[in-house]
Amino acid sequence: MTLRLDSTEAGIATAARLLREGGLVAFGTETVYGLGADATQPKAVARIFEAKNRPRFNPLISHFPDAEAAFEQVEASPLARRLAAAFWPGPLTLVLPRAAGSTVSDLAADGLSTLAVRVPRGDITAALLRQTGRPVAAPSANRSGRISPSSAAHVLEELEGRIDAVLDSGPCAIGLESTVLDLTDPDRPCLLRPGGITAEELEVLCGTLHRPATQSDAAPVSPGRMLSHYAPGLPVRLDVNTPRPDEALLAFGPQNGPSTAAMTWNLSESGNLEEAASRLFSGLRVLDHAGTARHLRGIAVQPIPTHGLGLAIHDRLTRAAAPRPTSVNPKENTLP
Ligand code: TXA
Ligand code: MG
Repeated sequence: MTLRLDSTEAGIATAARLLREGGLVAFGTETVYGLGADATQPKAVARIFEAKNRPRFNPLISHFPDAEAAFEQVEASPLARRLAAAFWPGPLTLVLPRAAGSTVSDLAADGLSTLAVRVPRGDITAALLRQTGRPVAAPSANRSGRISPSSAAHVLEELEGRIDAVLDSGPCAIGLESTVLDLTDPDRPCLLRPGGITAEELEVLCGTLHRPATQSDAAPVSPGRMLSHYAPGLPVRLDVNTPRPDEALLAFGPQNGPSTAAMTWNLSESGNLEEAASRLFSGLRVLDHAGTARHLRGIAVQPIPTHGLGLAIHDRLTRAAAPRPTSVNPKENTLP
């Protein structure tokens, strides 16, 4: 059942509690309704992809009540601070290098070394984010491939029964997603997605804006975009039933008997795809680091079902297993 919460003090308090407990809560912003989860809890974030029926993971925007909270999670350049002063709270999302102490989960950031942060406008939204006290990851609150919702009723049409609650703050003023600006390279601000704040408004502070080689909303299929994600240094072999003794095993489901692999990280012993999604990035990192230290030849991945979140897990693993251009260091986490 999905609770419909009014934007009273009690409604906001309930929404914040549900978020802290790992629940899914849709909430209004000035742009569109977002499907929120505590960005620091990978299991909660995995539920976002499950509820949206997303066939692939993609990096989510983390939402904050104010710039100070946002800038605890990223390395804010002087330009980022000027833009924040000019446009926050408001429909501008900034992509910046993730801070060393960032608490946002790898699943929310899709393994990137960067993080998209945003301070939405509106007292109810700010109160919710302040009371939650954690970064809130939120894509638009629609099923994958459908139109973004600009009212609580739209959200319920799409997600009734799939999420814990919707906090009704009335219709969204803008109805169109935020502008996404990549400031990872301080000398080359790049407009990834046009939106509520126009390019002309930004250029007053940024100078000329660059455009990405590929659309940011498009499937990250080009090798250039793949390199922007965490890619293990060790080669990845998919659909392996019997791993070699010099491989690390990314397992899924119950294991019969001792493994032939040198080490194992089980994504979910019970075969639960949400749990598997929430443990995917940490598993890749652990096996990559430990396997490299032990001079293993690669990471073998057991077969994973392709229904539900399995599809997104497959997509991510296929990209991790794809051959990489030899001229580029796959460990480089730079955006194209
Ligand atoms: O207005 C909005 O931005 C709404 C409300 C709910 O805040 N949110 C939204 O989220 O539109 P979503 O997930 O539908 O779109 C997020 C966009 C995507 O284009 C994604 O690729 C980009 O932001 N993005 C997120 N993190 C990124 C990163 N680290 N680097 C580059 N692009 C990033
Ligand atoms: Mg969207």
